[in-house]
Amino acid sequence: MAKTPPNCAMVLFGAHGDLTKRLVIPALYNLARQNQLPKNFALLGVDHNNCTAKQWRDDLHDFMESLTQSKGEAKEKKIDEKVWKKLSANFHYLTADFTKDKTYSDLGAELAKMDKAYKLDGNALFYLAVADRFFGTVVDGLGHAGLLKQNGKHWRRVVIEKPFGHDLKSAKELNARIRKQLDEHQIFRIDHFLGKETVQNILALRFANGLFEPIWNRDRIDHVQITVAETVGVEERAGFYEVTGALRDMVPNHLFQLVAMMAMEPPSSFDADVVRARKADVFKAMHPLTTSDVVRGQYGAGKIGDEAVRAYRSEDGVKKDSATETYVAMKLGIDNWRWAGVPFYIRTGKRMTRRSTEIAIRFKRAPYALFRETKTEEMKSDWLVLRIQPDEGICLHFNAKQPGTEMVLDSVALNFNYKDWFKAAPAVGYETLLYDVFTGDGTLFQRADQVEAAWAVVDPILKAWAEEKPTDFPNYKAGSAGPKAADELLREDGHAWRAIE
Ligand code: BG6
Repeated sequence: MAKTPPNCAMVLFGAHGDLTKRLVIPALYNLARQNQLPKNFALLGVDHNNCTAKQWRDDLHDFMESLTQSKGEAKEKKIDEKVWKKLSANFHYLTADFTKDKTYSDLGAELAKMDKAYKLDGNALFYLAVADRFFGTVVDGLGHAGLLKQNGKHWRRVVIEKPFGHDLKSAKELNARIRKQLDEHQIFRIDHFLGKETVQNILALRFANGLFEPIWNRDRIDHVQITVAETVGVEERAGFYEVTGALRDMVPNHLFQLVAMMAMEPPSSFDADVVRARKADVFKAMHPLTTSDVVRGQYGAGKIGDEAVRAYRSEDGVKKDSATETYVAMKLGIDNWRWAGVPFYIRTGKRMTRRSTEIAIRFKRAPYALFRETKTEEMKSDWLVLRIQPDEGICLHFNAKQPGTEMVLDSVALNFNYKDWFKAAPAVGYETLLYDVFTGDGTLFQRADQVEAAWAVVDPILKAWAEEKPTDFPNYKAGSAGPKAADELLREDGHAWRAIE
């Protein structure tokens, strides 16, 4: 049974934002249903919209209801009104401008009132679900108002969403700025991929079993492919996406977290700093990238299933000659004893064939063809595939003899599906992350050195691409597996991408 977190207040900046409605509030509700919220808990929503606490609560309730009715992974049929009522009774709201000093003195007064009314022991968590340009402003405001001071008796923590910087320089500046107000242990930089059960399970697979770790290295692994394919396009986020692009949006954060989970050395304990140091080691060991290691793409018009979809350049809010990439593939090398010479190919794109996130590990072939008339290079390869989403599971593909008088080989699969084994409670993926902030466990959050080391790997590419505009965009059809050049990237090494399934 998980322990109950200490009493605390939560202050949610960006109370009317999409993230709040879609993820933060549903996650709080799910935690409440599982009795995993602090015993005494109250939430203060802060945003510039004029509204009362009641209106805010009602809006959130309606949105939650629409979520339960939409199709999706791990959705509940109906809101448990008793749970919602008890939780939302302690929701308060403050109309405020993040850039004004007054906001933070008002906030301090409101927090003090809530603390007294609900007995929150002086603990407070500030959640920044706001546009990244406000991260520094809000932290400064809180710091100058004395709201980030903690002592042995009470704590103050700040959760920061992505994007954390838009290149190495800005990430360093932001780190330096917030570190003036906060100690590193008070900062929780969220990467929502680490809230996914299957991502956390990579550590269990590797370090809770004696079976895999001995073969988890350059001696037995030929290469690794990591795919994060999405079918959605830019949606209503052109303003953000046009200046961000697939590389910044997905690679130094989500994809690199998958690489780190896959490639890190075993930590000596699950202490947050030990685990984070091992992950940072992976980024620090990555080869500096050059443009020949990376392929960028942008989707043209096409079909996703039966639905005809527009080209990126025809989406609302996108420039007609936009040079923003919606796809990126790259070849990474990790210079250490475990991985020297083992390529890690990673790719991510919007408007691809299928929604699929997986880590696929290809093992080296059998050293010699024992089977008459089967050349080793004709035998299928052995793969271990960790399916992150959808249809979470683990699959081992290996060769077996087909029944019959002849020795004919075929690739077969040992398949483990999460949903067949575990009855999972409905979850949006933020539950663990929020619970960890309440209990002060930073293991699944990014530390300053990790963030900077990850940006350092991709920074040369960002600089090169800013100077050299692509001439071949759009270079892949919506509904396809990405640009041809990405296939070339692997073909040069005698490899091929797995089909996106
Ligand atoms: C977000 C990106 O961080 O992750 C989005 O900004 C992307 O562009 C999303 O679609 C993918 O997350 P998930 O959990 O849907 O795979």
